[in-house]
Amino acid sequence: MNKNASGKAWGKGHWLLASVTLLLLLGVALLLGASSAQALDENNCLSCHGTPGLTKTNGNGDVISLFVDEKKVNTAAHRYIDCTTCHTAEPHKVETALTKLSLAQKCGSCHEYQYRLHLDSVHGRQLVYGNSDVATCVDCHSSDGSPHSVIRVLEYAAPAYKKNIAQTCARCHGDEGLMASYGIVDKVYESYMRSFHGKAMQLGAYEISQLDKATCANCHGYHDIKPASDPASPVAGLENLAATCEQCHTGAGVKFASGFLGHREASTDNVPVAYYTEIFFSSFLVIVIGFGALIVLLAIVRYSLNRWRE
Ligand code: HEC
Ligand code: HEC
Ligand code: HEC
Ligand code: HEC
Ligand code: HEC
Ligand code: HEC
Ligand code: HEC
Repeated sequence: MNKNASGKAWGKGHWLLASVTLLLLLGVALLLGASSAQALDENNCLSCHGTPGLTKTNGNGDVISLFVDEKKVNTAAHRYIDCTTCHTAEPHKVETALTKLSLAQKCGSCHEYQYRLHLDSVHGRQLVYGNSDVATCVDCHSSDGSPHSVIRVLEYAAPAYKKNIAQTCARCHGDEGLMASYGIVDKVYESYMRSFHGKAMQLGAYEISQLDKATCANCHGYHDIKPASDPASPVAGLENLAATCEQCHTGAGVKFASGFLGHREASTDNVPVAYYTEIFFSSFLVIVIGFGALIVLLAIVRYSLNRWRE
């Protein structure tokens, strides 16, 4: 009787344990299921667009890949937005040019503020002419140029994350041939990386120590970048430049800014003081070394003469 009762109790516990375990397993399965279906694809678009190799020729005659990489969609900033929210329920009835301009326009349908600034920037202004050399949204926000792999700007791997911005700009501004065709001859990336700002950014090993450093975007802006010669540019003229330095160098003023070489070497036109100082010190160095060498040479001659006399 006793044995039977305890057997029954054991049986109840067993059932309870089994059902709790089952519930737990079900929860885990649901969670896993949810995370593998993170990309919202309620209409199964990926059954076709998940296949690499699907392409189409756009309005400019460029072959555009229609492949959408599900793995990248799963980690994108827009992973909780369904395909049809951006593409309408009947995406194949809409004729898109699939150019950098049409892309920016679509991003701009939600990010209106960024779009308007960008359209008025040195990059964005070229889009209406069908120029695809200039930067648009995905050149700075996606590592493979796809509108489906845009990641949040504060992610460490984001092309727009502070530490990575210089490399992102350098994808084009480090290309001498491309830049020469626009009359831009300064080696902006190299000179930045050589500067104290570029060095400090590389040395700042921790995220927190990189945040106060100056990168391209701190001097030029990002959505609203202007030509350096445009009076509206934050680097045009000493007054604007001084205000730009003052964001970090409190009370810098025009004098501080006038000592800045920009991306060029010092010359009679560019910070002459630095140029003449450089000339002075390099000539001084030559004189000192030459004088030293002369003294050594004379000593050798004298020593040899003495030995010869002996
Ligand atoms: C049965 C396969 C298939 C499915 C399912 C499918 N597509 Fe497509 N999609 C295509 C093909 C093929 C093209 C290229 C058509 C062409 O050459 O004009 C295309 C083109 C596109 C384009 C480019 C549009 C343009 O201007 O030409 C977009 C955007 C697109 N699909 C989005 C979607 C979305 C969003 C879904 C889900 C709602 C979806 N597709 C479902 C096969 C498919
Ligand atoms: C946050 C908005 C957004 C979401 C969500 C989105 N797309 Fe797109 N998609 C775009 C933009 C922007 C373009 C570029 C359109 C252009 O160039 O005119 C684009 C272009 C495309 C193209 C044309 C080829 C290309 O890569 O430029 C296809 C195909 C496509 N999307 C399919 C999909 C599918 C499938 C999904 C769901 C898994 C999806 N999209 C989800 C914004 C989105
Ligand atoms: C030349 C590079 C560049 C281009 C082109 C660009 N962005 Fe950005 N964007 C950035 C940088 C850099 C940041 C991050 C700034 C920061 O550190 O806060 C940013 C930030 C953002 C943010 C976060 C909110 C904010 O404004 O800081 C959004 C949203 C965004 N961009 C959308 C867009 C869209 C949409 C386009 C195209 C119309 C675009 N961007 C074009 C570089 C760019
Ligand atoms: C349907 C509206 C919609 C469209 C179209 C759209 N976005 Fe977004 N985007 C959003 C929303 C909503 C978020 C915020 C997502 C979140 O925080 O979960 C976002 C977030 C972002 C972020 C991250 C901002 C941050 O603070 O880090 C960037 C960058 C961005 N979008 C760029 C783009 C680009 C580039 C395009 C075009 C390829 C685009 N978006 C198209 C709605 C949209
Ligand atoms: C996809 C290529 C590309 C990327 C990425 C890019 N640019 Fe540009 N940029 C260009 C081209 C091409 C021009 C020349 C446009 C013109 O002269 O009409 C240009 C022009 C400029 C100019 C004006 C130069 C002048 O004449 O004074 C500045 C400043 C500039 N870019 C800064 C940046 C910064 C900062 C970044 C990164 C945040 C960046 N760009 C990212 C292609 C790019
Ligand atoms: C976003 C912030 C920021 C901006 C904008 C900025 N700087 Fe700096 N700068 C720094 C930081 C931080 C350092 C210290 C680097 C280090 O040693 O860690 C620095 C260092 C320097 C130094 C080296 C000597 C010193 O004082 O440490 C000079 C010179 C300098 N900056 C000049 C300029 C000029 C000129 C401008 C404007 C054209 C400018 N900076 C704009 C953040 C900035
Ligand atoms: C501390 C401020 C500062 C930083 C950081 C900075 N720039 Fe500049 N940039 C300037 C100034 C000032 C000029 C105008 C004088 C000159 O060309 O040297 C300029 C000019 C330019 C020009 C036009 C050059 C030409 O030949 O017309 C481009 C393009 C440019 N910068 C891109 C960049 C890029 C890309 C980065 C990051 C790799 C960057 N800048 C970092 C201050 C800065």
